[in-house]
Amino acid sequence: MPRQLFVTTALPYANGHFHIGHIMEYIQADIWVRFQRMQGHQVHFVGADDAHGAPIMIAAQKVNKTPQQFVADIAAGRKPYLDGFHISFDHWSSTDSPENHELAQAIYRELKAQGLIDVRPVEQFFDPEKGMFLADRFIKGECPKCAAKDQYGDSCEVCGAVYAPTELKNPYSSLSGATPVLKTSDHYFFRLSDQRCLDFLQAWTQDGKLQPAVSKKIKEWFTKDENGEGGLGDWDISRDAPYFGIEIPEAPGKYFYVWLDAPIGYLASLKSYFAAGGPKARYGETRSFDEFMADPQVEQVHFIGKDITYFHTLFWPAMLKFSGRKLPNQVNVHGFMTVNNGEKMSKSRGTGLDPLKYLSLGMNPEWLRYYIAAKLNANVEDIDFNKDDFMARVNADLVGKFVNIASRAAGFIAKRFEGKLTAAIGDEGKALLVALQAGGASIVRQYEARELGKVLREIMLLADRVNEYVDANKPWELAKQEGLDARLQEVCSVCIEAFRLLSIYLKPVLPAVAANVEAFLKVEPLTFSDADKLLGEHTIGAYQHLMQRVDAKMLDALFEAPPAPVVEAVKPGGEDIAPTITIDDFVKVDLRIARIVNAEHVEGSTKLLRLTLDAGEGRHRNVFSGIKEAYQPEQLIGKLTVLVANLAPRKMKFGVSEGMVLAASHADEKANPGVYVLEPFPGAEPGMRIR
Ligand code: MSP
Ligand code: ZN
Repeated sequence: MPRQLFVTTALPYANGHFHIGHIMEYIQADIWVRFQRMQGHQVHFVGADDAHGAPIMIAAQKVNKTPQQFVADIAAGRKPYLDGFHISFDHWSSTDSPENHELAQAIYRELKAQGLIDVRPVEQFFDPEKGMFLADRFIKGECPKCAAKDQYGDSCEVCGAVYAPTELKNPYSSLSGATPVLKTSDHYFFRLSDQRCLDFLQAWTQDGKLQPAVSKKIKEWFTKDENGEGGLGDWDISRDAPYFGIEIPEAPGKYFYVWLDAPIGYLASLKSYFAAGGPKARYGETRSFDEFMADPQVEQVHFIGKDITYFHTLFWPAMLKFSGRKLPNQVNVHGFMTVNNGEKMSKSRGTGLDPLKYLSLGMNPEWLRYYIAAKLNANVEDIDFNKDDFMARVNADLVGKFVNIASRAAGFIAKRFEGKLTAAIGDEGKALLVALQAGGASIVRQYEARELGKVLREIMLLADRVNEYVDANKPWELAKQEGLDARLQEVCSVCIEAFRLLSIYLKPVLPAVAANVEAFLKVEPLTFSDADKLLGEHTIGAYQHLMQRVDAKMLDALFEAPPAPVVEAVKPGGEDIAPTITIDDFVKVDLRIARIVNAEHVEGSTKLLRLTLDAGEGRHRNVFSGIKEAYQPEQLIGKLTVLVANLAPRKMKFGVSEGMVLAASHADEKANPGVYVLEPFPGAEPGMRIR
């Protein structure tokens, strides 16, 4: 009986394009999925965009789009990545789909019926200008420990302190700049601390199905520290409007927190795949989605990164369990991908590995699939993309050991034997091929266990044996000698047979190469059971080179920082910033605080006001200022302003001006009228110098 597998990868937030971390996860899962399909199993491999949540709502607002439109635009950009790296999802949906709205509300109702939903008031920061509650990430302020400015609501990037947003000094909303106020509102909780949940999760997470490191980590999460802190608390699953999400039934203005409906998106995507007739077309599946999910034989397998373990090993199984649903059979957690020795990925510095740039440079996607597979194991370990290592593995192993086997033998078969392979293989050749076939069992086990690095090591060891055979039998020398045709055909046939076996084993990692091999060998799509037999008497097609080597220049280009974007010169206030001066130039200008003790109209002038200023000198100054259109004299009297105190006095039509007051205006006063006199912050006194 074939296995029935429902396989997912984490649903990526729809607020950005895929990065190398996403691609790494998809490659890992895709290899496992392709392996299962090649074993004759039925696989439904689905993904979806994770559409909901405050960050996406706010990102959409910033670019004047509805969140739906924003998410749709991101979704429209997914295909080149997935096709480009041969990621074979059967279906892709969105957590904002009707299926997900319906399923999330149904699951919530079932949890509620179990008595696992609570409502409690929660006091939280609220942005009075935006009219919304603020997640911690949207609150900034001064660190309560080290007073560093502009720190986030949960932790300080300067001193590393961790705190509650309410502990920040001078907090402000990073959305509006407003000072947040504390406000209470009702929140809905999933009662994870209920004994039923605790008992279930303790057993489910420790029964050996999860990776050992994951089970261990979860045990820590369960444990309360000496202060009685920690342990499993209830989970706040609601957010107040405005929020982009799914409405909570019978709770006006309340939405599910994005992490409640996100994993339900796995089920919703599969459901919409069923609605689209996918499983029927592919496997003749006649059952409904609900019937399929009710089948205990169906295995549910999730691939995720380590940062979202908590959601997938605690919240998610508890939600499924207490809504009476199938539980995950596997939650496969991988580590993080870093680039060039763990440098922080940054686009502007060009240190990240941009997947689309990789493809646009003409780099082979299967190099990356091979490289990532070679680095992966079944543990939760980070893996680093390293240029030299990448070159070595692709050029020396993949091309040097595997691809070359075909190129060394195919030419002779085509030129000398009209493409015909022989079944007449002697003991040495037979022994080699039997060894290669025998190696399959362990490779299959390692694939199943996601030990992809081991898979490739074992395959390369087999390839080494084939290359030793080639080196020992030297087809290029046999070809030069008279009367050794049969021997040449035999050696080359062994090579091609061996190459086909290795191609089977590598096919989950190298699907496009495998397709070319199938065309070249003129065989049906290869599956693992094809390794049980040999081609024997068989005519193959013309060999075309299957894969180039990596050129170091490509890698240099891949990591080269993109050219600085050409920004159209902005003229602030309508004019260029003046040429640079030194501090010595600046200190020549003596700016002083002055009080406007009197202001009056100037007879015969439409522009000027006469100001009488006290700059703390024990005398008053007379200054003419072109601000008549902007101010009534009585608006100015008594105010403080800024005086250029060492400007040479100037004789004007109406008298001598002993300085100048500072005012702001646009360069193009006609288009942008308005003159604004400067006024210091409270506390400044006449005579104080401005520096
Ligand atoms: N939307 C949530 C997942 C919801 S699942 C119901 C999310 N999205 S994400 O876009 O931030 O991440 C998607 C996946 O990519 C996660 O499994 C995450 O661990 C993985 N990765 C993100 N950065 C990564 C690396 N640098 N390396 C490997 N995987 C990484 O989390
Ligand atoms: Zn700090």
